Amino acid sequence: MGVVTFGIPIDLANALVEAGGLTGAIETGTYLGSSASVLRDIVPQVWTVGLRDDIYRKAVERVGGRGGITLFLGHSPSVLADLVNKIEGPVLFWLDAHGGTFGGNDMPAGFKQCPVMDELRVISSYPYADESCILIDDARAFFGPMRQHNPDKWPTFLEIADFLRTGDDRYVTVLDDVIIAVPSALRSTVDGWWLQKLEERHGLEAMEARILSLPIHRHRKLSCDSRAACSLSQCAWNWPSASTREEFARRLVVSQ
Ligand SMILES: C[S@@+](CC[C@H](N)C(=O)[O-])C[C@H]1O[C@@H](n2cnc3c(N)ncnc32)[C@H](O)[C@@H]1O
Repeated sequence: MGVVTFGIPIDLANALVEAGGLTGAIETGTYLGSSASVLRDIVPQVWTVGLRDDIYRKAVERVGGRGGITLFLGHSPSVLADLVNKIEGPVLFWLDAHGGTFGGNDMPAGFKQCPVMDELRVISSYPYADESCILIDDARAFFGPMRQHNPDKWPTFLEIADFLRTGDDRYVTVLDDVIIAVPSALRSTVDGWWLQKLEERHGLEAMEARILSLPIHRHRKLSCDSRAACSLSQCAWNWPSASTREEFARRLVVSQ
């Protein structure tokens, strides 16, 4: 589960649906159906697949009654292979069927920790793949190993990007812990979404106002050598609650 939006960045998804004329969404890794449900707000059909029977039953109970959401129980590449033969039109793929990215491991033994390359191979056979958009959650897990993962079982970001850029003309980037791959014509949509985010989060005035609102502890200068900053950023990255991020920002400011 991504560390910035804790689910699909639905405003980006919405912008892509509108600009790209996407007609549905396919999610791998249903978990409890939260992203499936918000996706259903923006497209008429959502197909989602989860692997574990007990979680699948909870998701069915939670979102299964909603028209336009179809839940599958199974291994994502196999279910995707069936789906891409049955549906038509450009869609949004939300690939999130990788276990243990938020600490716990809810993967049954015997399954790959990360089936994303198998999923991408199936997607590349979809006749509308070149018009579809692909969002892959948990980008950080493809840049370096996470403690609970076996790195041999995870592709690197470059392997994913190379695959995505072979054959189809795609713009590929990473923002907010999500790997984003869209037809090149939709780059301006992604950039526009991101510039808006920057404005909301880091606009100069917003940053200045935020700094001015922080307490000044002149008498309690915290040490902020590179080791401390590093361990803090590691902490903020792994446990990114809003309060942790605030604390991180506060300490950096206080220590200057
Ligand atoms: C991070 S959670 C998904 C969160 C969900 N997409 C959301 O946005 O709310 C990952 C889920 O993928 C499931 N999963 C892992 N491997 C899978 C596979 N090969 N096929 C289908 N689901 C899988 C896990 O059981 C887990 O419930």
